[in-house]
Amino acid sequence: MARQRRLSDIPDFLHTSPFLPVGTRGDSHDPIQKVQVKPSLGQIIRSKHFRTVVVFIVIALVLLTLPTKIRNYHSFARLGISGPKCYFTDPVTIPSIPEGEVDWSHFAYTQYATTPDALCSSLMLFSALHQHSSRADRLLLYTPDLLSSPTATHLLSVAQNIYEVKPVLVEKQHKNNVHYIWADSYTKLLAFNQTQYKRLIHLDSDSTLRGNIDALFFLPSAEAVLPRAYWLEKPKLSSHIMVLQPSTMALEKIQKAIEEATRGTYDMEIINSLFGNECAILPHREYALLTGEFRSPDPKHMAFVDGKGEWDPAKVMQEAKFVHFSDYPFPKPWEETSAEEQEKVVPACVVDEEGKVDCRARDIWIELYKDFKAGGR
Ligand SMILES: *[C@@H]1O[C@H](CO)[C@@H](O)[C@H](O)[C@H]1NC(C)=O
Repeated sequence: MARQRRLSDIPDFLHTSPFLPVGTRGDSHDPIQKVQVKPSLGQIIRSKHFRTVVVFIVIALVLLTLPTKIRNYHSFARLGISGPKCYFTDPVTIPSIPEGEVDWSHFAYTQYATTPDALCSSLMLFSALHQHSSRADRLLLYTPDLLSSPTATHLLSVAQNIYEVKPVLVEKQHKNNVHYIWADSYTKLLAFNQTQYKRLIHLDSDSTLRGNIDALFFLPSAEAVLPRAYWLEKPKLSSHIMVLQPSTMALEKIQKAIEEATRGTYDMEIINSLFGNECAILPHREYALLTGEFRSPDPKHMAFVDGKGEWDPAKVMQEAKFVHFSDYPFPKPWEETSAEEQEKVVPACVVDEEGKVDCRARDIWIELYKDFKAGGR
């Protein structure tokens, strides 16, 4: 249990998350964190005696020799010296689907499943794609161990026969020395191997789809179009939804990065380091909302609204086409939870200046989980 709570085990996308319980955030006694902070602080204090230019050079040299994870905290990211430079570009404008003939066989949605639970939620997303009349192909990357589960083989046949899913058997990309929750997450990166397609939309299965998003296939060319991990303080891109251009070159880079990945480096960290300078930004409001946003401690939801209008949970929900279940450490929606566990995380109602009680965020959050559970039956 103590192991699980260590900050260095947790992927970057959760480090400064307001949704983490107190004690797991930056104030935790994490030995790795401490070791990482010391040298740069020491450098800064010592360099006080140097002239500005010398200070700059020293800091730059230190930063360049530090692991990428720490460098990303720094505004050097903005310059593209480190970190995802594209984070600072404006989100793309969503084009409309071209009129006339479109060869949809160039495009596919991909998901990956390494467990029967994940396979079941993938199936729910494929069903949603079907319901929203998506026209692109549907690919499911799955791993050989699923074939020994009768539930999984049944779900695979449903996927093929009812939702026209093309199953793609892949080797599980797994690491032993990393946090178990994300140990298989590298597998999703094998989507880059589907080079028979011009463009792919990867969707994480612990999510719900609420509209047709086929237009994303027609975004201007970019190796990766990614949403900002808007809930973090530092610049990071998220990987729970990605618009990708598969290529052998990209796959080679990916494979090398998976090989070298250690604790704290998961699919999202790899995506940031490989594509952070070349990518384009997917607007998070419509395409990358987290369920955790409805429980954010910030009443104004500054990071989410990003200077555009005010937080209005009903409107946000209405605009959202893709919502990701993310209330860590609250379990994923397919897992059973006790009433106590639920009571601990359920969003509170808010009281406005006139004393009116607003429970919309709470109701929306509860409804999202309820819908998911109902869909899984
Ligand atoms: C990529 O796809 C090719 C062709 O289907 C396959 O032979 C190869 O094993 C795949 N590579 C990986 C890493 O999955």
